[in-house]
Amino acid sequence: MGIALTLLMISCADKNASFDVDKNLKYSHEQIKKTISEIDSSQMLPRNILSDQKHWNMVPVEISEWTAGFWPGILWYDYENTKDAHVLDYATHYTDLLHPLTKLPAYDHDLGFQIFCSYGNAYRLTGNEQYKQIILNAADTLATLFNDKVGTILSWPREVEPRNWPHNTIMDNMMNLEMLYWAAKKGGNKSLADIATKHAETTMNHHFREDGGNYHVAVYDTITGDFIKGVTHQGYADSTLWARGQAWAIYGYTVVYREPGDKKFLRFAEKVADLYLSRLPEKEYVPFWDFDAPNIPNEPHDASAAAIVASALLELSQLEDNTQKAEEYKLASINMLTELSSDKYQSRDKNPALLLHSVGHWPNKSEVDASINYADYYYIEALTRCKKLLQGLKVTENYKDIEN
Ligand code: GLY
Repeated sequence: MGIALTLLMISCADKNASFDVDKNLKYSHEQIKKTISEIDSSQMLPRNILSDQKHWNMVPVEISEWTAGFWPGILWYDYENTKDAHVLDYATHYTDLLHPLTKLPAYDHDLGFQIFCSYGNAYRLTGNEQYKQIILNAADTLATLFNDKVGTILSWPREVEPRNWPHNTIMDNMMNLEMLYWAAKKGGNKSLADIATKHAETTMNHHFREDGGNYHVAVYDTITGDFIKGVTHQGYADSTLWARGQAWAIYGYTVVYREPGDKKFLRFAEKVADLYLSRLPEKEYVPFWDFDAPNIPNEPHDASAAAIVASALLELSQLEDNTQKAEEYKLASINMLTELSSDKYQSRDKNPALLLHSVGHWPNKSEVDASINYADYYYIEALTRCKKLLQGLKVTENYKDIEN
């Protein structure tokens, strides 16, 4: 099927505005070219730009760098949208840079973020068999962290002793299940899908409060498998709702519903999404970094959470069996993208990132009110999905497959 290159506009009822996805993809491409000219073919990766800075802080390619996959992933999405051969060269360069990481034993659960955002998009768009093998190997490596007594993947092996978290699982880990489902379908071990589903079930049973809000970290007993406690790591307090944690839950359960297709996961994705939407500030679509932070409205917002949720809700709207909810999620996502694409949140001439105003780790006072690579990754993913949705395609569809 050919791709119509028409300007796509969508009406946003409650903001009485329209969202121009092509304009914002073009903006993203221009910003990405600024980053390319700033860093060229570096051996390091752009991670953040703090609020008083104008240039990227670069980080080495290390297994402990959980964000390593996002810059290559941004380049792959930009290439998908522009077919710019120059961008393809950089996407290939930065993906290949991660190769040493693919030969190591499991460091922690972030392998999914690192490999699926980079190599996952690389394989999706090129069909290169070497990329495929790397992802299959990474899925097997990630699965070595699964504890079948508990029924989840261990997120942080290095936190077992220092904080006495015998088996810890963080909500972010839901994002790494997609790579396991993918591998099980693409010739990897079929049990990888069972591990992913078991992880999602255990997490659903223990990692959430009654209202659908999650603790960042669930701590389990390695011997009995029992849930011990829910605590926070990056939120304000154990009892509060950390915005990005809830964003990971919305995205994660949407993927888990897409894969095994069990309706209980759809109903759960709705529950966690509805809580998030109900707690947004009035007439705003970008949350404060923690919904219960004590000094709201004088707390920083987190654009990264909004970008993750915007992307997830586009898919959730397509998977919905309830047309009213489907419309509600689509509209909420477009409203989030509209707000993220405003001069308040787009970096424009302030710095070469796509977005301003994300919060990385407030309790550590790190990356507070910053541009961060994962906000940009999920923003360009959401824009790409939005364009597909407006063209009547599945948001997870691949332009390459379509054109072939
Ligand atoms: N995975 C870490 C974070 O969301 O900041």
